Amino acid sequence: MPTSSSSTLAIPEPTAIPKHIAIIMDGNGRWAKKRFLPRVAGHVKGVERVKDVIKHCIELGVEQLSLFAFSSENWRRPQDEVSKLMELFVMALEREVGKMHKNGIRLRIIGDIGRFDTRLQELIQSGETLTAGNQRLTVNVAANYGGRWDILNAMNAWIKAHPGEPISEADLAARLSLGDTPEPDLFIRTGGEERISNFLLWQLAYTELYFTDTLWPDFNAKALDRAVISYQKRERRFGRTSEQLVQP
Ligand code: IPE
Ligand code: IPE
Ligand code: MG
Repeated sequence: MPTSSSSTLAIPEPTAIPKHIAIIMDGNGRWAKKRFLPRVAGHVKGVERVKDVIKHCIELGVEQLSLFAFSSENWRRPQDEVSKLMELFVMALEREVGKMHKNGIRLRIIGDIGRFDTRLQELIQSGETLTAGNQRLTVNVAANYGGRWDILNAMNAWIKAHPGEPISEADLAARLSLGDTPEPDLFIRTGGEERISNFLLWQLAYTELYFTDTLWPDFNAKALDRAVISYQKRERRFGRTSEQLVQP
């Protein structure tokens, strides 16, 4: 078998607790609107929920948590909202990176960070460097991230290094932003929409999908438990039959 993290090539050993959870944290704006608050109030609450979910992932023994914070399409939002989201990102990094490090959490940012201002880029760099050796939980924050961007990047890296040579699944998978990370076992989207919105397109091929109407600012440890319980009831066949799974 090729040594690849692609589950179309290698079948991961199922575990009761998903090793990698990927979340589209959606519904901040609607949460705020329901309360006659500005959208940014929803984003502020959303950051609080990130902290709770990280804490609970550690309690559960999750190894990788990938969070969609800002998509490559979110630049289309009103300028004011984009600026506030950037400010919040800066503030969250300033306040939380030290605590994350103390708690053994590794922080990684995936996405095209070159479009962010220098201060934010510096905070990202220093946060990643500081926490690089931590092993308790890795939090991958997708910022200015798009799944298609990621795949194209991987392709272009390959073409540059191996001009004219065909690329394999394993070669491509290894060049993605999370090329060294096992694919998500469980995908959660809050906020009621049932779409992928250009998140980890390649890696979600065999991920168990879970959608909830709960708005992200209302998502808590109990809500995460519900998603994990739903995951535990799934039968991950990866193309095989049920009968094959019970055979030794
Ligand atoms: C998700 O919440 C946060 C970001 C996309 C940054 P939204 O802001 O998309 O909230 P809704 O979907 O408008 O409720
Ligand atoms: C997806 O949410 C991106 C993030 C949560 C960061 P959106 O709210 O931007 O997704 P669409 O536009 O409704 O698909
Ligand atoms: Mg949304």
